Amino acid sequence: MKTAITELFGIRHPIIQGGMHYVGFAELASAVSNAGGLGIITGLTQRTPELLAKEIARCRDMTDQPFGVNLTFLPTFAAPPYPEYIAAIVEGGVKAVETAGRSPEQYMPALKAAGIKVIHKCTSVRHSLKAERIGCDAVSVDGFECGGHPGEDDVPNMILLPRAAEELKIPFVASGGMADARSLVAALAMGASGMNMGTRFMATKEAPIHDNVKKALVAASELDTRLIMRALRNTERVLDNPAVERLLEIERVKGKDLKIADIHDQVAGIYPKVMIEGDMDAGAWSCGMVAGLIHDIPTVKELIDRIMADAERIIRKRLTGFLDGAIEAGQKVA
Ligand SMILES: Cc1cc2nc3c(=O)[nH]c(=O)nc-3n(C[C@H](O)[C@H](O)[C@H](O)COP(=O)(O)O)c2cc1C
Repeated sequence: MKTAITELFGIRHPIIQGGMHYVGFAELASAVSNAGGLGIITGLTQRTPELLAKEIARCRDMTDQPFGVNLTFLPTFAAPPYPEYIAAIVEGGVKAVETAGRSPEQYMPALKAAGIKVIHKCTSVRHSLKAERIGCDAVSVDGFECGGHPGEDDVPNMILLPRAAEELKIPFVASGGMADARSLVAALAMGASGMNMGTRFMATKEAPIHDNVKKALVAASELDTRLIMRALRNTERVLDNPAVERLLEIERVKGKDLKIADIHDQVAGIYPKVMIEGDMDAGAWSCGMVAGLIHDIPTVKELIDRIMADAERIIRKRLTGFLDGAIEAGQKVA
C-alpha cells in the first residue's frame, strides 16, 4: 500500500509506532521498522543524550530500515536538555522525529537543517494547523480514545479525523484507538494517510516490557481506562488499578485545588516499576481504550502482516462488495 506517509518516511506500510515511555526501546522500534512500519525510540526514556545516542546505535544494529525518535515536550519535574537530545538524533543519522506535547517550533530549524522529517502528534485541529504552519511534514492526530495525553478538548477520532482532513494540507495519520485493519481502513476513509499505534504495540512479543503488562492489556476491556490529572490540565488516560483509584479519590477531595505534589506518589517514577518489574499496581501508567480490542500477543511482524492482509480484504471484498450489491460479501473480516 502506498500513501503520502509511506512515501514521506520511505516505509512499506502506513503504520507508525508512537513513542512510549519505557516501552519504545530499540527492540520494539527495530521490530516495527523490520516489519515495514516506522518504529520510534522514546528519546526521554534515555536519561541522557549520550544514552540516547547509544540506543540509536543499538537500533541501527538491529534494522537497516528507517526508524525515528520521539521527543516529548511535557511538563516534567526537571527540564531535559533538548538541544543535546536533538544533537544525538542528528549525529545518529535518524531521519524521522515524532514530536509531542508542546509545539516543536523552537527546534524546527535544527531538525530541518539536518533533513529530518518531523511528524508532530497533537490532539486538536488548531494545533495541527500550527504544526503545518511551522513546517512540520506531517501530523499524528491523537483522538480522545488515545493512551497517554488526549489533551483537554475531548474530541474522539470519528470527528477529529474528518475535521483534520477538512483543514490540513500536509498528510496526517490517525492516532488513538487504532488496533487492526478495521482501524486502518476507517482512518484512510476519514482522510488519514496511515495510523499510529501505541497501546496495541505493547502487547507484542518484541515489546521489551514485563509479561504482566501484556497480560493486563489482553485482560482489559474498553471500560478499564481512567482519566487522571484533569484539574491540572495535563490529562492522562491510564489503565485502572488500586493506585489509580486512590489518586482519583485525592482528586475528588482536592477538586480545583489539586497540586501535582498531592499525587506525586501515584505518578512519579512509576514506569520502570510497571514495565520492567511488572508491578501492575505501582501507580498510573498510560493505556488506551483500545485495550478492549487487544486479544492476543503476536510478534510485531504477525500483527503488521495481519493488518495489511485484512485491510486488503476489507477494501477489495467488503467495501467494493457493497458497491457490487453483494450485501454478505466479506462481512466477517477479522
Ligand atoms: C505506555 C505508554 C506510554 C506513552 N508514552 C509516550 C511518550 O513518552 N511520549 C509520547 O509522545 N506519547 C506517549 N504515548 C502515546 C503514544 O505514543 C500514542 O500516541 C498513543 O498510545 C496512541 O493511542 P493508542 O494507545 O490508543 O494507540 C504513550 C502511550 C502509552 C500507552
